[in-house]
Amino acid sequence: MARACGKIILFGEHSVVYGKPAIAVPVKSVFTEVNIEKSESFKCSTTYKLTDSEKNNLKKIIGIVLKKLKIRNKNFKLKINSTIPVSSGMGSSAALSVSIIREISAFFGNNLNNNQISEIAFECEKQFHGTPSGIDNNVVTYEKPIYFIKNKKLEFVRVKRPFTIIIADTGIKSSTKDIVADVGRMYEKNRQLYDRYFNEMAGIAVQAKKAIETGEINLIGNLMNENHGLLQKINVSCGELDFLVGVALENGALGAKMVGGGRGGNIIALAENNRKKLIENLLKAQAVNCITTDIGKTQ
Ligand code: PMV
Repeated sequence: MARACGKIILFGEHSVVYGKPAIAVPVKSVFTEVNIEKSESFKCSTTYKLTDSEKNNLKKIIGIVLKKLKIRNKNFKLKINSTIPVSSGMGSSAALSVSIIREISAFFGNNLNNNQISEIAFECEKQFHGTPSGIDNNVVTYEKPIYFIKNKKLEFVRVKRPFTIIIADTGIKSSTKDIVADVGRMYEKNRQLYDRYFNEMAGIAVQAKKAIETGEINLIGNLMNENHGLLQKINVSCGELDFLVGVALENGALGAKMVGGGRGGNIIALAENNRKKLIENLLKAQAVNCITTDIGKTQ
């Protein structure tokens, strides 16, 4: 059996598509698992319901993986189980790709290193996202906090002081592909303004890396708030995301922001120990789903 975890982007979603740095961390409490067995003919089943377009994407990524690994023999069956919410900014598509690649390659005796796994997963991600930056396949493959710039060597981020992030889901499914394309259109209409926003986001990611490496938790929170403000300005947040961000901040979170593509999906809130339970309970009451994760504890 192969397993791949979920992820969140702490800083730099969208600007990362334009070559700016971003920081992502794994969320190991949610995952996708794939099990392969010999079979007379090819079969694939999931323990969760897929829409027609998700079924289609799954078929396509299996095709991409077999092609990349040069495997013609399709006498196997795959069973897929996942606890990662789909279309909500938690890396479900990358985890699906990485776990399928790991399981199929191991079954056929092809030992891939993480670099090779991430590269194939990037090809699969194109199926879901059109023009992915590559951040999701990297963080999900390496399962470590990463500082990522498109087409540059990957850097890992050392977390000096672990901190707690609460992830709360609006329950609104959104298409990262469509939102990235929409940001592209807005960028073309107003390059100067968007370049300024993306440069500001880049500055935040640079400062955030330092803050994480030196354990300045308050600063991490402030930078999350600034990042959220910019994501609002580029028009990828929405009322429901802003509401959950407000709930977290009004109740003592050190910082909060939307994560991933936006216009739905999740927010993240940074909470100190003495506020953690309260914020978690309040968000649980308002959100469809809530996950608490400690960043830097096991890395
Ligand atoms: O919605 P997610 O979690 O897949 O995150 C997308 C992040 C973007 O920066 C918006 C797109 C990308 O490819 O990096």
